[in-house]
Amino acid sequence: MSDQPLALVTGAAHRLGKAFVLALARRGYAILLHYRNSELQASRTASQIRTLGMPVFLSQADLTDPKQISSLFALVDKIPHPLKVLVNSAATIPVGDPRTLSAQEWDAAFDLNLRAPFLCAQEAAKRMTNGGLIVNVTDIGAYKTWSRYPSYSVSKAGLEVLTKILARSFAPSIRVNAVAPGLVLQSDLVSTDDWNRLVERIPLKRAASVEEIASAVEFLLANEYITGQTLVIDGGYSLLG
Ligand SMILES: NC(=O)c1ccc[n+]([C@@H]2O[C@H](COP(=O)([O-])OP(=O)(O)OC[C@H]3O[C@@H](n4cnc5c(N)ncnc54)[C@H](OP(=O)(O)O)[C@@H]3O)[C@@H](O)[C@H]2O)c1
Repeated sequence: MSDQPLALVTGAAHRLGKAFVLALARRGYAILLHYRNSELQASRTASQIRTLGMPVFLSQADLTDPKQISSLFALVDKIPHPLKVLVNSAATIPVGDPRTLSAQEWDAAFDLNLRAPFLCAQEAAKRMTNGGLIVNVTDIGAYKTWSRYPSYSVSKAGLEVLTKILARSFAPSIRVNAVAPGLVLQSDLVSTDDWNRLVERIPLKRAASVEEIASAVEFLLANEYITGQTLVIDGGYSLLG
């Protein structure tokens, strides 16, 4: 077993997850890069990590399936680096009016955004025998009444509560925190006009860079006296009514 620590990031092929793995690789971590469908982006991100001189391992899994979470952690056991960091970043955002959202859309958000981080944290904690850090990626939507994304917002609110419960249960050796971004990367769910309108409402008048969100994870790594907390990185968005 190497002394070099391992960081596992879910949903890390591209977008925010990619920024987390690159930041962790720059900090000297070997990387287990999880992806689901984005195989090409995953292999490109893996090449960037190798260019930084860090070992990288890839794992494809549908995290809504508990058996595939078990397989992901069976791979962790084969990797000759001790698991020290887990970042739960993979998520889904079902869009729908609360009056018509289906049970499947409700469950999709909860299975991936809440149950998977819980099961991954459980599996990670078993392996972090000499301490570690778990970071759950939530959203300021956890504190808002976004009626267009009911299951997403409620699942992220649940993830904030889970963060506190796990922080208490896993202390003193393992710390569990959350980062709650506001606007970072536009998705297909929001038109460019709507995105620009949202950005204009933010007190700091811009979206965050992915590096600004990743640096919150780096801060949580560096400050070993923080557990059970959420770092909100939203340019003041949560100050709005
Ligand atoms: N983007 C933002 O502005 C923003 C703002 C606030 C909070 N956040 C939070 O930040 C995190 C990252 O957001 P993002 O926008 O960068 O990512 P994203 O595009 O929403 O997707 C995250 C990842 O989830 C993975 N995923 C989807 N379904 C999956 C499944 N069934 N099993 C396993 N993985 C699955 C996808 O992997 P593949 O691509 O490999 O299929 C994808 O890479 C999320 O937790 C999100 O809620 C984002």
